[in-house]
Amino acid sequence: MEETAKLIVDGKTYELPMVRGTEGERAVDISKLRDETGLITLDPGYPNTGACKSSITFMDGEQGILRYRGYPVEQLAERSTFVETAYLLINGELPSREELTRFSVLLNDHSLVHRDMLHFFDNFPRRAHPMGILSSMVNALRAFYPELPERSEEEEILVTFTRLISKIRTMAAISYKLSRGHEVIYPRPDLTYAANFLNMMFDSPVRPYEVDPDVAQALNVFWILHADHEQNCSTAAVRLVGSARVNLYAAISAGICALWGPLHGGANQAVVEMLEDIQENGGDPGPFIERAKDRQDPFRLMGFGHRVYKTYDPRAKIMKKMADRVLKKQKGSDPLLDIARRLEEVALEDPYFIDHHLYPNVDFYSGIVMRALGIPTNMFTVMFAIGRLPGWISQWKESMDDPGWRLQRPRQVYTGPNERDYIPMDKRK
Ligand code: ACO
Repeated sequence: MEETAKLIVDGKTYELPMVRGTEGERAVDISKLRDETGLITLDPGYPNTGACKSSITFMDGEQGILRYRGYPVEQLAERSTFVETAYLLINGELPSREELTRFSVLLNDHSLVHRDMLHFFDNFPRRAHPMGILSSMVNALRAFYPELPERSEEEEILVTFTRLISKIRTMAAISYKLSRGHEVIYPRPDLTYAANFLNMMFDSPVRPYEVDPDVAQALNVFWILHADHEQNCSTAAVRLVGSARVNLYAAISAGICALWGPLHGGANQAVVEMLEDIQENGGDPGPFIERAKDRQDPFRLMGFGHRVYKTYDPRAKIMKKMADRVLKKQKGSDPLLDIARRLEEVALEDPYFIDHHLYPNVDFYSGIVMRALGIPTNMFTVMFAIGRLPGWISQWKESMDDPGWRLQRPRQVYTGPNERDYIPMDKRK
């Protein structure tokens, strides 16, 4: 029997259809609400609003579950690679050996950046934030490569997606090299996606870089953990901007801009800056925790809290273990990891954090992992963006393929002045 919900307004009852997802979540379908009742809903920040149906990622914030296309993120982190996970997200199924080889060959073939684009990099001020550079450069790709027409062949679609996934990594490494005034290192066909990135970042004509397979593996896991997260702020931005039928590059560029914010992907940089601040102030996290609890103080514990997870973020659990493992291998120790552990311990026993269901999120330990891999702090969010790209692409593709696609355009409840007459300048107070 079809499920319905009842809404009673001014004594009149309206029946609203219900929608059920494959994991049993239920939603009230209000798509005809205004037509039938003249009413709209108000949900600032959208915590109660489903903007779409999606078959890509499932998360349960109460139980701490995250799955891509049904596969638990823990299994993918343990057994997959970033390239394979990207394929899975975009195509819906794990690739066969041949499909994976073809995808990898395409990633290699499209890894170079048009030479003229290098001039763009040259003209950013040295202190420009790499996220600003990345969003501009991704948008600029449209000037060099064709837009995907509405009825594209499968091959054309695949090439455009691989072009983006491959070039974002090259462009990220170029922006780092140029910010240091170093020579650009080109991608190599004999290296894997992650190893290639590390090589482009750290190889130099005077100090050749040997990629450590464990480090490349850690980077794979880092990117897998960031690869998608259903309707988060940046993905919602990609879908919203994409709904105006802009080209893919522009929609992804919008996602990068959204990710930059410290309440979203920029939190990984903010966490390390906060830990450094604690270190400089003697290493005691107590005063920072007190500040985070003070309503008069805008300070928040960075890397804590999440709109959906009301328990420990499953990605943070893996990231915490990885921080230990990578540090042992690379540097032995990092005082920031000790501070982070102490901070977590104190916060998780504090009634404020318990009552507000605030736990470490993915960003809490990811900065420490990045530091151990030698990634500079201002590149952390770029690392997140590279990881999130397959998610953005698959969500964009799903929205474009949706037969019920519509331009996204929310409404509002107006609270300004009622109609009034224009006041000539000499009559104004
Ligand atoms: N430190 C202290 N208090 C917090 C924190 C925090 N990190 N996060 C939330 N709270 C408190 C708020 O003050 C509020 O308290 P109140 O109800 O007593 O007024 C309550 O918890 C709810 O906060 P909201 O801002 O309404 O929660 P929301 O779901 O909108 O925010 C967010 C989620 C933005 C992630 C928030 O937890 C935050 O600012 N965290 C720090 C930044 C961060 O780590 N961002 C990365 C998120 S993961 C990602 O995007 C990859």
